[in-house]
Amino acid sequence: MYELLYLSRGVVDLDPTEMETFLGSSRVRNAQADITGMLLHVRDAPTGSVFFVQLLEGPDPDLVEQTYQRISKDELHTDVHVLHRGERPQRTFGDWSMLAGATSAEAALRSIAENISDDASTAETTWDLLQDSRIARSLLIIAAGQEHLPHA
Ligand SMILES: Cc1cc2nc3c(=O)[nH]c(=O)nc-3n(C[C@H](O)[C@H](O)[C@H](O)COP(=O)(O)O)c2cc1C
Repeated sequence: MYELLYLSRGVVDLDPTEMETFLGSSRVRNAQADITGMLLHVRDAPTGSVFFVQLLEGPDPDLVEQTYQRISKDELHTDVHVLHRGERPQRTFGDWSMLAGATSAEAALRSIAENISDDASTAETTWDLLQDSRIARSLLIIAAGQEHLPHA
């Protein structure tokens, strides 16, 4: 299974309902490409910034990369960059063609501190912390466990 994890800055502050709207067509396309994953909308309250962390996974590396190329050109976000790409033994978010969630930076930092204490430093900004793919990936998994949104 090939996975790609990226981080970006949101240009507009989409609320969860707006995210669900644009994710409708994304889920159809992902299902066609046998892609699953998780998209997290991270709000950094002190700065008002919004970040996206998304993991895309599927058996065909080309389809995962093509999907990322399309997403990376989307004007809804900027500073889009890959944190990690590579093979894994199995899917992490196999039940969702794209699960979506939202978290605040405070919740994010607390989760990180509890789960990867070595890397958690409140002196760094949320953006800096999220550059570590292990932290970003853990955050997605933690957030997925807290989500009860319907999936396609
Ligand atoms: C944060 C974010 C996540 C997205 N995730 C997906 C996705 O998982 N799958 C997808 O097909 N499109 C996703 N999109 C939408 C694509 O960027 C793009 O708008 C859509 O696929 C239509 O592309 P097209 O206009 O080139 O046909 C996402 C967009 C943003 C801003």
